[in-house]
Amino acid sequence: MPELELNKTEGAQSASSRWQHLNQWLSVHQSLWRPAPFLDPRPDWTSQYPALAADVEALSDAACDRFHHDPDQLAEWLTQFLPSLAERSPLVTLPMLADRQATLAITLPETRATDMPGRKREQAGAFAAAVQPLTNPVLDWCCGKGHLARTLVSHCPAPVIGLEWDAALVAGGNRLARHFNDKVTLQRQDVMAPDLTLPDGVHGVALHACGDLHRQLIQQVVEVGEPRVSVSPCCYHRTATANHRPLSKRVRENDDALALSRTELRLAVQETVTAPARVRAETARLRRWRLGFDGLQRVLRGVDNYLPVPSHPAWLANEDFETFCRWAADSKGLTLPAGTDFHDWQAFGEQRLARVHRHELVRHLFRRPLELWLVLDYVLFLEERGYQVTLGTFCDRELTPRNILVDAVRACGSQSVPHSHP
Ligand SMILES: C[S@@+](CC[C@H](N)C(=O)[O-])C[C@H]1O[C@@H](n2cnc3c(N)ncnc32)[C@H](O)[C@@H]1O
Repeated sequence: MPELELNKTEGAQSASSRWQHLNQWLSVHQSLWRPAPFLDPRPDWTSQYPALAADVEALSDAACDRFHHDPDQLAEWLTQFLPSLAERSPLVTLPMLADRQATLAITLPETRATDMPGRKREQAGAFAAAVQPLTNPVLDWCCGKGHLARTLVSHCPAPVIGLEWDAALVAGGNRLARHFNDKVTLQRQDVMAPDLTLPDGVHGVALHACGDLHRQLIQQVVEVGEPRVSVSPCCYHRTATANHRPLSKRVRENDDALALSRTELRLAVQETVTAPARVRAETARLRRWRLGFDGLQRVLRGVDNYLPVPSHPAWLANEDFETFCRWAADSKGLTLPAGTDFHDWQAFGEQRLARVHRHELVRHLFRRPLELWLVLDYVLFLEERGYQVTLGTFCDRELTPRNILVDAVRACGSQSVPHSHP
């Protein structure tokens, strides 16, 4: 692979070459990230890289936990088996766009942050700091209760409008804005409505609008030729199409571009660093049960394939493994034989989960590169349409792993070009 040129500012060339490198690197390593360890007890890569698989599977729980929180260290350790993993770190490094002092100064004080969960208050503050200075009227896309809008408004040249389809959030957000005398108005609006056109001259901002929602903003902005758009994307897999559809011509017209299913897109956001311990424990228990049932159903059916079981009803989380198996078998029309040793299958599920965790460590090395590969498509699309794009992070991943910011300013003299949506 040609050497990376990441020291350049993010110009057209560098976004394009970075995408190219990521595309190649992800393609070369696809056997490591495409198969989901939860569904496949022995992914092909375990025979392709037997020494790597053996050492990863032998990791202690403590080492597993450490590497889970430090993928850079894991990649470094694994370069002894696979030297090309050394390229991961430079490929995913991004500049921090929010100055810490500015973040502290802009974040709403708790006394003004009614109904704002602590993390959201800090995320909104960091996002607001990263997009300073604001020189256009701001439109907050999928604004929820308007936390970002209320954080931004005192730094804006004009009142802030927020669009949100949930009537309760709109009413609650408008109440808060009135109470705190913020010049913020939230409007009830489905942002996917085909007849929605943005007013001229606005700066569109979106903090964690999912998949199609943030893509819609980016497309609307370039359609109208708005002066600026700042997006922190999330949930790339929330899309109406079964497969990923790139926005940029550069990616759409590249025959070597990775093709991704909606399920594979999920990998880019599979991260639970911010989930509370109670939620993580419950998730792990249910994963153990599902894997225990998976072993049992393979023997029962005599078919060595994963059998998807529907989402469990909430009450089941407080029951035991046997009840889970009976519910799962029932939902798939299977009969559990009398004398099924649930204790044994539960232990099997525990062992499987331990191995899944270790295999997932390897797979998860690729989620940030995959996320960046997706985001670079947005950057390329905006550049193709005459925008200058800054790409970076607005906060640490401990505050939110969805910490990428795409900040695009329409270059002077560029015209909005009518575009047929891909
Ligand atoms: C993850 S939340 C982010 C909210 C806000 N930006 C924040 O960071 O607090 C996504 C928001 O998008 C809203 N939403 C989802 N689909 C929408 C649509 N079609 N039109 C408008 N809002 C939508 C949801 O109701 C939700 O409030």
